[in-house]
Amino acid sequence: MGAFDEGVGSQTEAGTVSSGEGSDEDALWSGRFSKPAAPEAHRMGVSLHFDRRLVLQDLRASVAHVEALRDAGLLSETEASGLLDELRDEPSWLDVIDVARDEDVHMAIERELTERLGEAGAKLHAGRSRNDLVVTDYRLWLLEEGAQAKDKLVALVRGLTQRALEGAEHVMPGFTHNRPAQVVTAGYVLVAHAVALMRDIERLDQWATRTSVSPLGAGAIATSTLGLDAAATAERLGFAKPFDNALDAVSDRDFAIEFCSVAAILGMHLSRLAADLARWSEPAFGFVEIDEAFSTGSSMMPQKRNPDVLELTRGKAARSAGDVVTLLTLTSALPSGYHRDLQEDKEPGFDAAETMNLVLPALTGCVATLRFVPEVMRAAMADEDLYATDLAESLVVAGAPFREAHRRTGELLKDLSGRGRALRDLSDEEWEAFGVPDGAALLDPDVSIRARSMAGGPSPESVRTQVAAVEARLPAT
Ligand code: ARG
Repeated sequence: MGAFDEGVGSQTEAGTVSSGEGSDEDALWSGRFSKPAAPEAHRMGVSLHFDRRLVLQDLRASVAHVEALRDAGLLSETEASGLLDELRDEPSWLDVIDVARDEDVHMAIERELTERLGEAGAKLHAGRSRNDLVVTDYRLWLLEEGAQAKDKLVALVRGLTQRALEGAEHVMPGFTHNRPAQVVTAGYVLVAHAVALMRDIERLDQWATRTSVSPLGAGAIATSTLGLDAAATAERLGFAKPFDNALDAVSDRDFAIEFCSVAAILGMHLSRLAADLARWSEPAFGFVEIDEAFSTGSSMMPQKRNPDVLELTRGKAARSAGDVVTLLTLTSALPSGYHRDLQEDKEPGFDAAETMNLVLPALTGCVATLRFVPEVMRAAMADEDLYATDLAESLVVAGAPFREAHRRTGELLKDLSGRGRALRDLSDEEWEAFGVPDGAALLDPDVSIRARSMAGGPSPESVRTQVAAVEARLPAT
């Protein structure tokens, strides 16, 4: 990103694109026209303020295209090496993109190249169109950002599994409907999030495999007559293969929609992890403390330490969900072929990628520095409701049908609460009468957690096995 990291979403870069300047009077396509575009029409078409993020990808795609033209005998060795020297000098391009002058990044680079080299520059666009170029750039950009997001996600999952191991014995109430349900551990909940995020890592991988297709050579809609080797171009750009069909290559944006949907599902998972951590850190819970470096104060209330990183993680999940909807709506009714509507395809993808790459490191830091407060978690285990299902299951083991066991346990709890008594007050005789002679011993969180030792369950051993399974699926570092 570097020089091009202004936010996406603004319609124009306010104050930079003036209505008169940079009109299409001298556009690279002006031959067929006898008058320039109206300033307001030009202004609407400008995308350089956001698509300049693609400058490096456009240079690399241009390198591959120059080599294809040279190999096809359409550029001399001298012309090609002149162009390649300029295009490969990436730092020399970072400051030349002038939003006031050009419509988009592709035209900005071609114009500058032609100004630097004359006729050789004017030969660059043979056999290619902005239609194949823009999706080549966009695929490359998303693949790079997606790879970065994957590395960051792997780091988060590693952090979570480590914290899950630390928390494998920290018993705490598990909740359904935000009400105490059964005994779990902090480690069990954290590894649950890691298991979900593992699927996001795999989704990112699968998306990248499908997206690794080069559109370059597809031209505007139907390739060219120039004998370009699209397979060689694909290989030069690091794509797995060239396009199967040129019309599909320039028309479809499924790669960007899928990227945003992978990001949206990931965003939803991150949001739910953040929601758990924020809740655990509420003063009324006190199960964890968020490090000061990942909390924020209040401008007015001096006592406050708020979980803003977690809340923003939740809030930003809305962005990528919106990005998917934008792209689906944008593309659904379009006939095949390129339409200028498709210029609106980039900001949602930029936003989804940049949101992932912003949120992931912050959440990773927050998880890594989180302090467990096991004594507070354990104090919450005094709630006897947490053991009710264990009692019912003991009746089942003794031979009762589950429905009857459920009813008898419910009736016992109702009876006790009506008399202001608790399970802990039951005598050995009363337990005997209930049908679970060792009932008193079951009201123990360590007994309860170890009793649920089946694969995928919350016992410390099972959590350790789940952690090992997640770690075995993580890419080696
Ligand atoms: N800036 C345009 C985009 O993002 C490039 C393609 C323009 N192609 C065209 N036929 N006008 O889609």
